[in-house]
Amino acid sequence: MSGIGNHANPLRDAQDRRLPRIAGPSGLVIFGVTGDLSRKKLMPAVYDLSNRGLLPPGFSLVGFARRDWADEDFARVVHDSVKQHARTPFREEVWRQLAEGMRFVQGTFDDDEAFTRLRDTIGELDKARGTGGNFAFYLSVPPKYFPTVVRQLKKHRLSEAPGDSWRRAVIEKPFGHDLASAQELNRVVHDVFPAHEVFRIDHYLGKETVQNILALRFANTMFEPLWNRSFVDHVQITMAEDIGIGGRAGYYDGIGSARDVIQNHLLQLLALTAMEEPSSFDADTLVTEKLKVLNAVNLPEDLGLHTVRGQYAAGWQGGEKVAGYLEEDGIDPASVTDTYAAIKLEIDNRRWAGVPFYLRTGKRLGRRVTEIAVVFQRAPYSPFNTTDTQELGRNALVIRVQPDEGITVRFGSKVPGTQMEIRDVTMDFAYGESFTESSPEAYERLLLDLLLGDANLFPRHQEVERSWEILDPVEEFWASHGKPEPYTAGTWGPKAADDMLARDGRSWRRP
Ligand code: BG6
Repeated sequence: MSGIGNHANPLRDAQDRRLPRIAGPSGLVIFGVTGDLSRKKLMPAVYDLSNRGLLPPGFSLVGFARRDWADEDFARVVHDSVKQHARTPFREEVWRQLAEGMRFVQGTFDDDEAFTRLRDTIGELDKARGTGGNFAFYLSVPPKYFPTVVRQLKKHRLSEAPGDSWRRAVIEKPFGHDLASAQELNRVVHDVFPAHEVFRIDHYLGKETVQNILALRFANTMFEPLWNRSFVDHVQITMAEDIGIGGRAGYYDGIGSARDVIQNHLLQLLALTAMEEPSSFDADTLVTEKLKVLNAVNLPEDLGLHTVRGQYAAGWQGGEKVAGYLEEDGIDPASVTDTYAAIKLEIDNRRWAGVPFYLRTGKRLGRRVTEIAVVFQRAPYSPFNTTDTQELGRNALVIRVQPDEGITVRFGSKVPGTQMEIRDVTMDFAYGESFTESSPEAYERLLLDLLLGDANLFPRHQEVERSWEILDPVEEFWASHGKPEPYTAGTWGPKAADDMLARDGRSWRRP
């Protein structure tokens, strides 16, 4: 067969490129290991990675919390959470190997002795499991504890990486509650860990469909020529949830929907949708492009007309009567926290000038759906008889982030018959139909990248700070202008949000 010899074998190269990325010797320390995030997402993700053969054999997991647990108690909790929440099937041999590397350190965050024990535990794991001194410290704790924990890590020299090993800090949102607090937080963390060893989790970036925004735009030729002000009328980014705040009153009240998800997830989606093509996909280049477009984002002048906030009132959802926000456990009955927010943004650059980006999010909305809809301008002229055809619809390309992952293209088509009647139809790509493998959970991808030191999917502090800079004026405006408008649970939010778009001659999609 020709072409073998010294030449590259294209088939083998194709396979090589698909070799799995496997983490090297390492361990993960989770602070706040008894919390919801840890049980529902982190522990199952560790197991799933291990089950897929992507963790090193000696991988170690250390829990740090106040509970009076032995290693076995901790392992039992991990076991239960894996059984309940893991994506991949339970396999005894995988579990056993993982469980051997589990340790628990009991203590409070200001307890020096506990941090000494943590240091000893890490030393013991290095010897027993060959973790090579490589540890990531995951701060799954309320932000008020961040400074204490990182300072303790410094004081006990846990942040210092011996030899050529690494030590990383992982921070979960919220990264502050405004620009000033985010800057302060970043200062504290960077005082202890070098910037390239600080990983901020925005779990939306770990979602397959979110990464696919880049593939769609930059691995194809047919979309990018239209992706600008000459063809796009506006963009709608929706993150709707049907759940209420559940048991998260302590975190949510006073924070609200805009700080909870617009500042991070939605502005990241906007950045990926609107940024220029990066010259490569390394972390620095991506950040540069995302930051460039975030720096071009502006709020409209009149925030009263172009922002809306709402708060859910009692209603019906999925055939069940559900309480209003003010009746939820732990919520101040006079709370003015927003559970719905809609904001119009403008991007002042050559590509997007004059194209509004509408962002909306809410709890207890009609259904759970996250999507990015790029809505195109109408055809400039219709040669069809207007008596046969209603006003032409708008073409749209919808990136369905979840739950029904895929992409929809909407366009007008002739209705079969003797008249030239045109109606909107859709063409769909569904992940489930095109690929046999299921998508990994966002946290699987992010934990693996963390252990590999691959920072592409982690927002940098400049992005976080810029996002607060965008949102702060809205929060300040809301704080001095009345209250959120109530909306009935199970509906699509306050009427004011519909009015906001109607004033611009547009309407929200009903996904
Ligand atoms: C979190 C928010 O970041 O994202 C929650 O704090 C929200 O309020 C959650 O429910 C939604 O995540 P997902 O992946 O279910 O869309």
